[in-house]
Amino acid sequence: MRALTYQGPRQVAYEQVPDPVPDHVDGAVVRITACGICGSDLHIYEGHGFSPDLGYCIGHEAVGEVVEVGSGVRNFSVGDRVLVSASTGCGSCGPCRRGWVLGCERGLSGCYGLSHALEGSQAEAVGVPFADGNLARIPASISDDAALVLTDNAPTAWFGARQARIRIGDVVAVVGCGPVGLMAIAAAQIMGASKVFAIDLVEERRQLAATLGAEPIGDDPVRQVRELTSGRGVDAVIEAVGADATITLALSIAAVAGRVSVIGVSHNQAFPFKLMTAQTKCLEFTAGLCSVQQELPTLLRLTEAGRLHPEQVVTHHLPLSEGAAAYELFHSRADGVGKVVLDPTR
Ligand SMILES: NC(=O)c1ccc[n+]([C@@H]2O[C@H](COP(=O)([O-])OP(=O)(O)OC[C@H]3O[C@@H](n4cnc5c(N)ncnc54)[C@H](O)[C@@H]3O)[C@@H](O)[C@H]2O)c1
Ligand SMILES: [Zn+2]
Ligand SMILES: [Zn+2]
Repeated sequence: MRALTYQGPRQVAYEQVPDPVPDHVDGAVVRITACGICGSDLHIYEGHGFSPDLGYCIGHEAVGEVVEVGSGVRNFSVGDRVLVSASTGCGSCGPCRRGWVLGCERGLSGCYGLSHALEGSQAEAVGVPFADGNLARIPASISDDAALVLTDNAPTAWFGARQARIRIGDVVAVVGCGPVGLMAIAAAQIMGASKVFAIDLVEERRQLAATLGAEPIGDDPVRQVRELTSGRGVDAVIEAVGADATITLALSIAAVAGRVSVIGVSHNQAFPFKLMTAQTKCLEFTAGLCSVQQELPTLLRLTEAGRLHPEQVVTHHLPLSEGAAAYELFHSRADGVGKVVLDPTR
């Protein structure tokens, strides 16, 4: 099959790779109809990957159709239209059954497209381990674009907003308005925020946030948030960048007894955390990766009900064969680019 492979910093190749096969009786193969590029793929693209491997299939967001199932798969059959959760677990231990795959007791928690260990899904097909726990059927009313955002970005945002314990009437700030941050704005609104400030360096990203009903903030966010909250700061901050500067910013703009929830991926093992500032303000600080399976049931219901519109963050559709250009575009944040969806049939 054809797939995008990671060849080193800023090098993504469209090339022939071996077809996936179910790795085990519990596995399945999904023929992909749409796949996405995540901000986490940009970390890899910039050379801050999660393994030293080269040549692996990259990508962890996919929707498609089941084309093969192992003999142990009970809940899915050939022909099912499914979304492939970005996070994986064994699906059968206690934490996995509750959707908490990050806490998989069998040590089988993972993600596609970070190394050769689990090949990625910017491809014509993907092998899915423990398919019963790692696939979800897509309701007919949910489009491929919406389902694609539900594989990772929307659940991560929802998880970030839950971790921020947003309460009715809260004033919230979202730092970083990529697809994850945009979905965090939507999550905060559904959870009852009275106001959401959207902070980003890129004007077009702030505009996308404004179309969702957020109040955009560009220059000098610390001063602007202070002015807009009469010096108080915000009740909750969702950080969706993962840079030292934006995590520090999130801690600065939180009000006394505020909550800071970091979902942006950081590679810094020595983040300069201003403990005394946090202590003086009685802050709650949380950071985490999303167990997609845990958030999906809620988000599928909200999407079916028309209260959440994950497809809103999709701005570009490109052929998988133009993957290198698609990476460049998403990385540049130019041309009003939000979520980029790739079509593996082209
Ligand atoms: N926790 C998880 O499970 C999980 C899952 C998916 C993605 N992520 C992470 O979420 C983050 C966002 O993903 P995305 O797809 O939205 O990526 P993205 O790169 O499109 O978005 C990042 C946004 O942050 C903005 N930004 C960068 N520096 C900034 C600064 N100093 N001040 C203000 N804004 C700044 C950029 O302009 C951009 O709009 C990434 O770090 C990604 O790795 C985490
Ligand atoms: Zn991701
Ligand atoms: Zn498990």
